[in-house]
This record gives sequence, C-alpha cells and structure tokens, in this order.
Amino acid sequence: IRDDAAAVGEYIGNYIAKRINDFNPTPEKPFVLGLPTGSSPIPTYKHLIKLVKAGKLSFKNVVTFNMDEYVGLPEDHPESYHTFMFREFFSHIDIPPSQVNILNGNAKDLIAECNAYEAKIKSYGGIELFLGGIGEDGHIAFNEPGSSLASRTRIKTLAYDTILANARFFNNDIAAVPRMALTVGVATVLDSREVVVVVTGQRKALALSKAIEEGVNHLWTLSALQMHPWALIVVDEDATAEL
Ligand code: GLP
Repeated sequence: IRDDAAAVGEYIGNYIAKRINDFNPTPEKPFVLGLPTGSSPIPTYKHLIKLVKAGKLSFKNVVTFNMDEYVGLPEDHPESYHTFMFREFFSHIDIPPSQVNILNGNAKDLIAECNAYEAKIKSYGGIELFLGGIGEDGHIAFNEPGSSLASRTRIKTLAYDTILANARFFNNDIAAVPRMALTVGVATVLDSREVVVVVTGQRKALALSKAIEEGVNHLWTLSALQMHPWALIVVDEDATAEL
C-alpha cells in the first residue's frame, strides 16, 4: 500500500526495472512483459520512461504482449489500445516496434487471431511478468464477471458496466464504445511467472476487497490471483476503503 497513485507508479516502475535488469535480457533470451492499458498504469509508464531517459533501463531486449484490444475500432483511432500504448509508452522508450505485440481487433478471423496470440506467447517460453489493472467490476484485462477462470485469449462481449465506465474516453457517448474486445484469458494471466496488478482510486475499492478478502470466483476475476504463486497487488490508500 502506497500513499497515492504517483507513489504506486514509482514503486511498480522501479520494481519492473529491477526485474528486467536482474534478468539481463539478450536478443536470444528477451524479457517477456505483459502490459495493460487504462489510466491506472499511466504513472508506472511515466516512471519507466524516466528510467529509460536516465539510462537506467532499456527495452531493447524486451518483448511485450498487451492484454486486450477493442474489436472493430480502427487501429489509428485515438482510443484504440494500439494508439494508447504508443502515445503513453512505446513512443518514449527504446523498444523496437517489431517487439511489440497487440491483438488485432480488426483481423478478418478473430478466433485465429486469438489462437495465434497464445501460440506466439508460448513460442517465447511464456510471459515473465504480467502487469495488469482492473475494472470496477474486478475484471483483469477484459475478463468480465462470469469469465471462466480457465479462459484463454478470445473474443469477449463487454459488460454494460464496463461500457459505461469507458464512455468517458468516448466523449461520454455510450453508443460510441465498442461492444466487444479481444482479451487474454484468466488462465493466460495465471500462466505468467509473475503477476503485478495496480489498483488505485476509491472506484476500485469494492473490487479489491471482493478479490482478496473473499473466495476465488469467476464474478471478480482478479480473485483468481489468489491461486498464483507469485502475485503482487500494489494499491493506493483510496483503494483500501473497503478492506
Ligand atoms: C479497461 C481495460 C482493463 C483496465 C481497465 C481499468 O477495462 N481493458 O485492462 O484494467 O480498463 O481502467 P482504468 O485504469 O482507467 O480504471
């Protein structure tokens, strides 16, 4: 628990930097990092950018896999997760674009796209560290309430609560929010050797308490982390309101 969102970002940024530096990645053995979108990871991205600019961290030998992407939103739309990731992070660090992996929500065959994503993660020997955020309904990636805890990368219809929550990014126009997304599954996240989750703000307080103080269940998919051998949840004071 840290005081505020900025302190959480600094903590996770330093944590990830240490993990990458200790791993000492090479082109033959890159560090495989899973990444989220949303406002919660922005302070972490800001801190990681600072470390790269200060010469304390490099992403030259890091391969990334993003958690999710909207279906049917053009890749260059300002709210696509492709645009978000380059605007908030990738354009400011030294990662070669060829090492960035983001699901294509406009693929002709969406199921094939999801299967190929899982296969590509496996081809790298799995994800070393998955950084995640959560929705107000406790979803990790876009694993909405009711998602199987054994789920893999797939198409997911968004919960109405998620559409409402994300309308703020679409000029509060609920009709403009995509109805579907491609997302890694709960089991995809659990397969990573380490999972780090950022939870900030009072909006997330109920989800945090459901996920860590109640049992493992598919209605609050973050709760699946209770079964993971190496999971870390970093929160600010506001997010602890229901604990
Ligand atoms: C979306 C993303 C999630 C993210 C969530 C929270 O639903 N698919 O991966 O965790 O937003 O967003 P925010 O951090 O802005 O609250």
